[in-house]
Amino acid sequence: MDAKRIAAEQAVNYIHDGMIVGLGTGSTAYWAIQKLGSRVQEGLRIKAIATSVQSEDLAKTLGIPFIPFSEINEIDITIDGADEVDPNFNLIKGGGGALLREKIVAAASKQLIIVVDKSKLVNRLGAFPLPIEIVTFGYDLTIRKLQLLKCEPKLRMIKNKIFVTDNGNYIVDCLFHEIENPEELHNKLNLIPGVVDNGLFVNMTRRVIVGSLNGDIQEHENKNG
Ligand code: 5RP
Repeated sequence: MDAKRIAAEQAVNYIHDGMIVGLGTGSTAYWAIQKLGSRVQEGLRIKAIATSVQSEDLAKTLGIPFIPFSEINEIDITIDGADEVDPNFNLIKGGGGALLREKIVAAASKQLIIVVDKSKLVNRLGAFPLPIEIVTFGYDLTIRKLQLLKCEPKLRMIKNKIFVTDNGNYIVDCLFHEIENPEELHNKLNLIPGVVDNGLFVNMTRRVIVGSLNGDIQEHENKNG
């Protein structure tokens, strides 16, 4: 079985009757949503909030019921993927362009469970270009400001068109190579006018589940997350 699928299905074991569940985005979260769909069809009673239109559409086809933010203050557990995970449980997310909704949902969650294969584990964040969501107004200027933080910024394109997020914004992928202090960089980036949010998730993760092709599963718990 696929390593991402093994990790994602293991995470679904943490979901119980009555929970509000945050649904992540991407090819690993896909397997968690599929498994959750099967469990709902078997009688599990949960309500969901999704981090992207894509995940919401998938979950709805599987019969997973939704609850609006207006009716809740907290999410019990969110299961999501990541692009990089460091030994301090800090993440780079947003490879799929859903980082803003992912962060809003993660911040509202009592527990964020990250599901990955081994390729996502790194000693230091930054080899994966950091996705940054920016508003469309003045975006050229915002990109030049990002460049001053010593990254190589690239406006995300898809089929020769600028990629637009579910929130109507653009994404800039910023290659830093090595991020020495994720928290400091996170705060600096979010102070630039035009930046909505960035894909650094600093100390938000409670548990990282790592799947392997041979079926092995490793779980790492962050006691402070
Ligand atoms: C989407 C994300 C994803 O979780 C991240 O890109 C990992 O994706 P995948 O599970 O497909 O490798 O942050 O915005």
